[in-house]
Amino acid sequence: MDTVRDASKGVISGIDKKDVEHWVEIYFLGKAYQVPAGLTIMQALEYAGYRLIRSCGCRAGFCGACSTVFRKKGEYKLQTAMACQTRVEDGMYLVQIPFSPAEKPLYDLEEEKYDASVFLKYFPEVARCVSCNTCTKACPQDIQVMDYVQAALKGDYKQVAELSFECIQCGLCAIRCPAEIVQYHVAQFGRRMYGKYGIPREKNVEKRVAEIANGEYDKKFEEVMNLEEEEFHKIYTEQQNTREVY
Ligand code: SF4
Ligand code: SF4
Ligand code: FES
Repeated sequence: MDTVRDASKGVISGIDKKDVEHWVEIYFLGKAYQVPAGLTIMQALEYAGYRLIRSCGCRAGFCGACSTVFRKKGEYKLQTAMACQTRVEDGMYLVQIPFSPAEKPLYDLEEEKYDASVFLKYFPEVARCVSCNTCTKACPQDIQVMDYVQAALKGDYKQVAELSFECIQCGLCAIRCPAEIVQYHVAQFGRRMYGKYGIPREKNVEKRVAEIANGEYDKKFEEVMNLEEEEFHKIYTEQQNTREVY
């Protein structure tokens, strides 16, 4: 099995044991399982018989649902990763973290001023950051997490938004933080504020929103809503096949 895609196909369609040359032993929730080498952690759990309802989403490293904590054989260090992006290794002890329970302040962006002090109003705990960089080391996206927390402390929305742009909200930074900061909520707030107040409004979007508000598409929407299911599928499939991907 050379690629993750091949391995996925194998797990779904059934792997014939006699075709597997190399095996590894992993421990999930303390129980040992023999699984083919080369599988991702997620594939290995499915091979072992687990049906993943939580802790599983896109299978492609984007949704942040499959956080894993593991320790490798002979090592003292706890490591974190995404289960769909990390291959099993012999003697790996692991658990899945379906989500990280985190406090999140409620806010209304319409009510806020684009002011540096607003960060501390909702996230005063960023002042507790001890600059240990544990969050950065835990991040599977290689984001400079500590740097965006420091930028939040300074009220720099632009830097928070840009540094955290690829955050998938997996929560692995937050579960390791000694200052109990929920970094990804800080980042999300920064991106929202920057998106709303920090960058110019896109003219084309404003134009389209006005067109919708003026009812220019009402007739078209009505036509679509009244389509027979079969016709709807046909049009949808045609559009998907001709759609440009950016
Ligand atoms: S883990 Fe917490 S305390 Fe350490 S650098 Fe990151 S935000 Fe700061
Ligand atoms: S910043 Fe935190 S929540 Fe976002 S991807 Fe990195 S570890 Fe996950
Ligand atoms: S399942 Fe979405 S990141 Fe792993």
